Amino acid sequence: MQKKVYKLDKGLRGNVIIPSDKSISHRAVIFASLAKGKSVIKNFSKGQDPLSSLNVCRALGVDIEIGKEVIVSSSGVLQQPSSILNCGNSGTTMRLMAGILAGQNFNSELIGDTSLSKRPMKRIIEPLSLMGAEINSIDNHAPLKVCGQSLNGINYNSKLASAQVKSCVLLAGLFADGKTTFTEPYLSRNHSEILLKHMGADIESHNVSVSIKRSQLNPCEIEIPGDISSAAYFIVAGLIVPNSDIILKNVGLNPTRSGILDVVEKMGGNIEILDKKVVSGEDVGDIRVKYSRLKGCIIEKDIIPRLIDELPVIAVLASQAEGETIIKDAQDLRNKESDRIAAVVNELSKIGVDIKETVDGFIVKGVNQIRGGCEVNSYNDHRLAMSLYVAGLISQKPIAINGFEWVDISFPEFLGLFKNIL
Ligand code: S3P
Repeated sequence: MQKKVYKLDKGLRGNVIIPSDKSISHRAVIFASLAKGKSVIKNFSKGQDPLSSLNVCRALGVDIEIGKEVIVSSSGVLQQPSSILNCGNSGTTMRLMAGILAGQNFNSELIGDTSLSKRPMKRIIEPLSLMGAEINSIDNHAPLKVCGQSLNGINYNSKLASAQVKSCVLLAGLFADGKTTFTEPYLSRNHSEILLKHMGADIESHNVSVSIKRSQLNPCEIEIPGDISSAAYFIVAGLIVPNSDIILKNVGLNPTRSGILDVVEKMGGNIEILDKKVVSGEDVGDIRVKYSRLKGCIIEKDIIPRLIDELPVIAVLASQAEGETIIKDAQDLRNKESDRIAAVVNELSKIGVDIKETVDGFIVKGVNQIRGGCEVNSYNDHRLAMSLYVAGLISQKPIAINGFEWVDISFPEFLGLFKNIL
């Protein structure tokens, strides 16, 4: 699908209720599937990725009803699937499920779409193998054939700050003998730790280390907050479209995810947090965003995992900031749904952004006039498609985004919610 975006003549105005967090939705349905009894999940994501997790859990014998709420009824024991488990585009589904399946008493196979089949799996195969798992891959890529085994706990020092790898190892640890400890260089999102604890797992976190012991999870009732990674498109649009003043409601503000708010503050953006509270163990609040004059900044080191998925739209933000914005230490962006360093640089260059690729990030020199008047590509990557849409809101001539339908992977409500505030 091609989407044409026309420049806005007036500012964005109004309130947006931000839809459900994708990362927490995956975890809620997967962890509930491991708990004996009935779990109730309120505000489950409508994105295709969490649906992939839900369908994989169903294929493992778990009874899941989708209505106003998602109701998961599980015996607490997964069943051998009668077919291959399809993770679609979702790295989170494949990596988290691999950890669980490694410790079952049956064999299974995980597959993904073209993009997921190109993404690196060595990062999970390595620690799982140290735990005694047997996983056959094609040169460390999906399909993954998992031969269920008894596992042993490990003390693992990860080179990557990755919540997917951490969660995979912790979930394997739920089924392993002894204690499993995972240490990462910087703290990545900690939704797994919060929810596993809430569901009664024997888990302890200390700075960048977390340890878990074999545990049976209790069923849960959980309300999922809005996704800060989805809110990011509205935050950037509000900051760069002149005369904007918008309020984003019910946004998850977990500090391990909210790096974009620190960056906006550093750049001089006019942003305010309202009505902060805690829901199901996660920080939640509303965010007011107004059009602002911005200055460039350096984004590096420990903040990177706290805003990893927001970097494409932060590149758009940087194009409207005076001076240089330098993004470093983000090499793993090349391993996402697309090579997001190359993709962002190629597509933003086409529409008039002064952006240069580096090995581990990019450098943007602003302020740029977004010219548009051309076609750009989403690289079949939802975050690219949405970032390009936001750039289109201030483009002199319309831009046409090819492959816009990939937005549905995380945020099918995206266009409808933008239309409400245009
Ligand atoms: C995710 C973790 C991040 C992020 C991805 C979702 C998760 O990946 O990019 O979109 O839900 O755990 P990494 O952990 O590989 O950095």
